[in-house]
Amino acid sequence: MSRARLLEAEPRALAEAAEILRAGGLVAFPTETVYGLGADATSDAAVAALYAAKQRPAHNPLIVHVAGRAAVEPLARLDGRAERLAARFWPGPLTLVLPRRADAPLSRHATAGLATVAVRVPAHPVALALLEAVRLPIVAPSANRSGRVSATTARDVAVDLGEVIDLVLDAGPCPVGVESTVVDLSEPDRPVLLRPGGVPRAALEEALGPLAEPSADEERPRSPGRLASHYAPSLPVRLDALEVEPDEALLAFGDRVPRGAFATFNLSPSGDLAEAARRLYALLRAADRSGAKRIAVVPIPAEGLGEAIRDRLRRAAAPRPTRESAG
Ligand code: TXA
Ligand code: MG
Repeated sequence: MSRARLLEAEPRALAEAAEILRAGGLVAFPTETVYGLGADATSDAAVAALYAAKQRPAHNPLIVHVAGRAAVEPLARLDGRAERLAARFWPGPLTLVLPRRADAPLSRHATAGLATVAVRVPAHPVALALLEAVRLPIVAPSANRSGRVSATTARDVAVDLGEVIDLVLDAGPCPVGVESTVVDLSEPDRPVLLRPGGVPRAALEEALGPLAEPSADEERPRSPGRLASHYAPSLPVRLDALEVEPDEALLAFGDRVPRGAFATFNLSPSGDLAEAARRLYALLRAADRSGAKRIAVVPIPAEGLGEAIRDRLRRAAAPRPTRESAG
């Protein structure tokens, strides 16, 4: 199935992972959101290898991960809004899109040639320890094949990418379970929520005021993670199911559990959206493997982490693209 080495994330393995990254290799590591596939953001060759391993289109820019606010300084310009969000939410599941410094030591491929750069300081202790050990900015997209379901366990990373990466650091399942919230601050007066994620909209708006939605033409070049089909399992997905067919795998929530499914997976029997986010990708993968013909999902509430869950499910259900346009 997979040939990747999978090591428990203890100090020796972390030191080896840092060595591999410094030598231009690819290492998957846990963050609080999902597993990331890391590469040296300063190296054209390493970043090119990362795009190839994920089969990711070159026009989809990457998030640069660093160990703390100070390490962002050489890469991007932070205005007052950025400072406020960084102080409040880093380390944590928030990515800021900022004006890239002209002399930033970053591979052009990392930012897909854009004048902006997406940066984040992850909160997972293993991610932070690795970033501190490697002392380089690290690009890390979700550790899955482009367009498919993200991975929240080391085993899921190995299943998807095991043949093409050097090492997977295993620290168990990711505590948040959906990707970081992406906020574009590159324009002075119009903060844009490019991707709902682990920091809920309400917390950001409390700190920043109202967030704009991306316009149709912003959506495509600026955040291809928002392209219609993404996070997609192999089976078709049907949303807002109030009843279920006998050949469908059901993703239920709370006491919304229509009877008669081929197999039933409850995102959170107690109706807790944080638990549902944590289990979302693992249960999508389990439903995909269940032998059903289709995946039906009950309506998920829109508040809190529900916005990110609904966003991912909508994209999982969207019409599938041709290989070339997959994001
Ligand atoms: O939680 C996360 O953010 C995870 C973990 C591993 O940190 N990473 C992640 O990366 O989700 P990825 O590559 O799967 O998603 C990055 C998103 C994409 O939607 C991409 O288009 C957007 O960020 N992005 C990156 N750079 C951008 C930029 N300069 N302008 C606009 N969007 C950008
Ligand atoms: Mg992704």
